[in-house]
Parts: sequence; C-alpha cells; structure tokens
Amino acid sequence: MTNRIVVLLCAICLWAQHIVAAEVSTGNWNIIPLPSQVNEIKAKGFTLKDGCTVRVSETGNESENMHRNARMLINGVANAVNIAMTESSKKRRGEVVLSLDYTLADEQYSIKADSRSVIVKGGSAKAVFYGIQTIIKALPANCQNIKKVTLPAVQISDSPRFAYRGFMIDESRHFFGVDYIKCVIDMLALHNINYFHWHLTDDQGWRIEIKKYPKLTQVGSWRKESITEAGGNNFDGIPVSGFYTQDEARQVIAYAAERYITVIPEIDLPGHMLAALASYPELGCTGGPYEVATRYGVFDDVLCGGNNATMQFAKDVLQEIMDIFPSEYIHIGGDECPKKIWKNCPKCQAKITELGLKDIEGHSKEDQLQTWMMAELEKVINSRGKKMMGWDEILEGCPSKTATVLAWTSVDASVRAARQGHNTIVCPISNFYFSNRHWNKLTGIESLKHVYELDPVSDKLQSPDETSLIIGAEGCIWTEWVKDGEKLEWELLPRLAALCEVQWTRRDLRNLDSFVERLRHMQHIYAARGYRYRKDLLPD
Ligand code: ACM
Ligand code: ZN
Repeated sequence: MTNRIVVLLCAICLWAQHIVAAEVSTGNWNIIPLPSQVNEIKAKGFTLKDGCTVRVSETGNESENMHRNARMLINGVANAVNIAMTESSKKRRGEVVLSLDYTLADEQYSIKADSRSVIVKGGSAKAVFYGIQTIIKALPANCQNIKKVTLPAVQISDSPRFAYRGFMIDESRHFFGVDYIKCVIDMLALHNINYFHWHLTDDQGWRIEIKKYPKLTQVGSWRKESITEAGGNNFDGIPVSGFYTQDEARQVIAYAAERYITVIPEIDLPGHMLAALASYPELGCTGGPYEVATRYGVFDDVLCGGNNATMQFAKDVLQEIMDIFPSEYIHIGGDECPKKIWKNCPKCQAKITELGLKDIEGHSKEDQLQTWMMAELEKVINSRGKKMMGWDEILEGCPSKTATVLAWTSVDASVRAARQGHNTIVCPISNFYFSNRHWNKLTGIESLKHVYELDPVSDKLQSPDETSLIIGAEGCIWTEWVKDGEKLEWELLPRLAALCEVQWTRRDLRNLDSFVERLRHMQHIYAARGYRYRKDLLPD
C-alpha cells in the first residue's frame, strides 16, 4: 500500500469516527444549580431521539401552564441538540411525561429516567418547569450534529433552599428596552431565579409611563448627557432616554410569568427622585429648578416629606404601578435619602410638629418623617393585598414589621433586619452587587468564590425564629457604568451561576470545586445561546 493510500484510509477512519461521535452523546445530570438528590441507577438510560414525545399527564387546574411547559421542553431540546420531539396525548415507550403531584411542595419536583421514559413530577407547573430546566441543562450544549442523547437512568428529587431567588437590574442609569430585557429574563430563568426586581426610577431617569403624571416620562425619562468617570468633571454629551409604556411593561411581566418569574417594580423614594422633581418641581422642598441628574451618587434634593401633594403623588403613582404589576411585592426604595433639606424646609418641619415626632436615640425626627411616609405608602400597598419592600435604610426609623427588607449595605444589616423581625433578602454590596467596581477587579476563581462562598444566613443568626426570616438572596446590577448588553452580560455571567447555587442548593451540598467543574458545561450553554459571558473567570 502506498503512503498516499494509507493516509487516505486514516483520514476516512477519522472522519467516520467523527460522524459516529457526533451523532450520539450522553447527558449529565450534574447541573447548576446542583439538585438536592441525584441518584444514578445502574440500568439502561433513556434514549432521547427524533420522535420522542412529551405527554402532559396530570394538569390539575394548570392546563395552560403545563402545555406551555411541554412546548418549552420541546423548544429547549431542539435548541440544544438536533432532536425533534412532539407533544402527544398517547402513552408510549420513549416519552417524557409531565405531571403534577400535590404531595410535593410548590417548587419541588422529581425526575425518574429509565429506558422506557422520563417522568417529571412537580408540586405545581412551576416546579415542573424547574424539572424541565434540569433536563435541558443535562443535554450537551450547542450540538446541532447530535441526533441521539442517552440520559443516564436516574432518580432526582429537588427543591430550592430559598423561596425568594432574585436579581435586580437598574434601568434608570441606562435603558435597555423590551427585547433585551426579555433576553435577560431568559438568562434568569436558566438559573431558576423567580423574582426579577426592576429598578425603574432614579435620579438619572424615570422609565415607566404613569398616565396621571405624563411629564414623568416626557421630561423625566431624558437626560442630556452622563459623566464619563466617577468623581470626574467631564461629560460625554450623549443624551440617554427611554421608558416603558404600561403595555410594554405588561409584555415583560407576561413573558417573565411564562418562565415563573415575578416582576417586582421599584419606585425608589423619597430619595433618588431627581427625575421626578425635574418633571414636577413642586414635589420638592425648594421648588427647584431641578434637572435629571447627569452625575451619579446621592443628591440632597429629595421629595418633600411635608407636602400633602407630594404624598398624593406617591400614592397615585403606586396605585398605577399596582394596576400594572400583579406582584405581591411592591418595592418603594427608601435608600440614601439625605435629610439635610428637610431640616430647613418649613413644610417638612410643620409635618414633624403635626405628627409629634421627636429625636430619639439612633433615629432623628427627620428619619421618622421618612418612616411615616413609607408607612403611609405601605397602607396603600397593603390595601391592595400586597406587601411593601424597602432597602435596609428603612430600619433607621423603626418601620412596621410587615415590611420586607433588602439588606444591601452589609451582611450585618441582614442580621439587624431579621433580629427586628422582618422578612429579609440578602443582597450585600460586598458580594452580590455584580456591578461593584472594586470586586469586579477580582479575576478567575476568586471572583466566583466571592459570590459562591457568602452564605445568606449569617452565622450571627442562631435561633430558627431568626434564620427563617432570611427568605432569600438577590444579586444586583446598577448600570451607571453599564451602557449596553455586552457589559451587562460580562457582569452577570458566569457569576449568576454561583449566585443561583447559593439561592437554590442546600448549604451542605455546596462545594466550590464541584461547582467549578460543573460550570464548564454551563459556559457551553451560554456560548450556545450567544450570551457574552465573562471568559476570564473560568477558561473553557
Ligand atoms: C443601593 O445600592 N443604594 C440600594
Ligand atoms: Zn420639605
């Protein structure tokens, strides 16, 4: 045989091997977030291939959700590998069965895979959706040449550690729009996140249509330029604008709901209100003029706490917000509200006198004026059967115990909030602010570890009464320095994977080495979906 023929035969062999290897693959149930129990069974696994069916078996009163779940599974499989499934009502070998089992908790699901079928059972359609996410993540990613996947025989039982698994995006500083926010919601859904906290108003822009106050968007959604660096004095001369009409907000809410994500709106008050003050200067203590902020930080000009018209404005805005957002939680901010101007405002001081507020240890009378404002607004929120949320500064004035606190300033703030009897969400700037410029300098595994190793339940909390008040954790991206999706995704991914395991997986099962091992596959999923994740944390 001549050398040329040998080379040719070798090439044909390699090519043939490639074809075989490219067509069949094996799934891996060790996904992110790691399920509570994954017991692989020594038996033949399930062969997923063209013609496999999805059957919705038990739908309770969630028929629409369960059939949508079936479509999500079919699309998720088709996007990952080259396998076409169909929905069928006929029982047969080679099927994935989706069903409800009311003995399971609301977000609990199980998966049983063997050579006959894959059976997903959930305590609700939402739980079944998490089972579907697990199946999709167990598949090879970005493998359009794969026509068959063997899913190892397994019995999985899974439920989340925390009921509240949130992520916040600030759209005041920069605006992203409906299509991109839907992409972000897809990213959150991939990580089993169930609350999208939408920061819609701040000093630099008002981003939600309020019909009773049209100037909020006519004036307040536009700023003429932005500062180019923190603490600097140069501006870029580029206007920033944009807002969501109420219909657009409803589209986002519906899209998120199909992925079992509740959208929590935030109207941040009484501080961080320059965009509203620029629109309606009479809402401030001095009457202005005010301008939509072009710098970042904390501003002394805030809503007047003593003006009845200002309170009416806030109540009206919240009523419209509650008409749009079905969320049980309504976030009204409460952070970073300087009291300097209130000290010299006759209206604020008259209100303080009228309410009989006095300085007490740790809480000035102006702090208590803010607490009174928040409490008045909480009544409006409660009257619609909803719950108020606020940043942890609301603790400065003894808020009502029914308020849910987002502890952002420190982990200790979460300890204080829980000790004071509040349902508490842990989102410290030190670890869960993905836009924190200081921590963003961390590279490689250190950066992931910084998120992964913070436990939301501080060791300082001891009694079950206290620890049970930590209802979850949230990551945040503030967008002062995030002008586009590329930067947003760089900040979000892959650290969102670390956060989701903190939110979902049992504490005793969390292990950084195992997480990093599993993260490679998650990165392949990101790549397959075109997500622009940060590449230097974990090389592929
Ligand atoms: C915040 O970061 N001011 C909540
Ligand atoms: Zn005032």
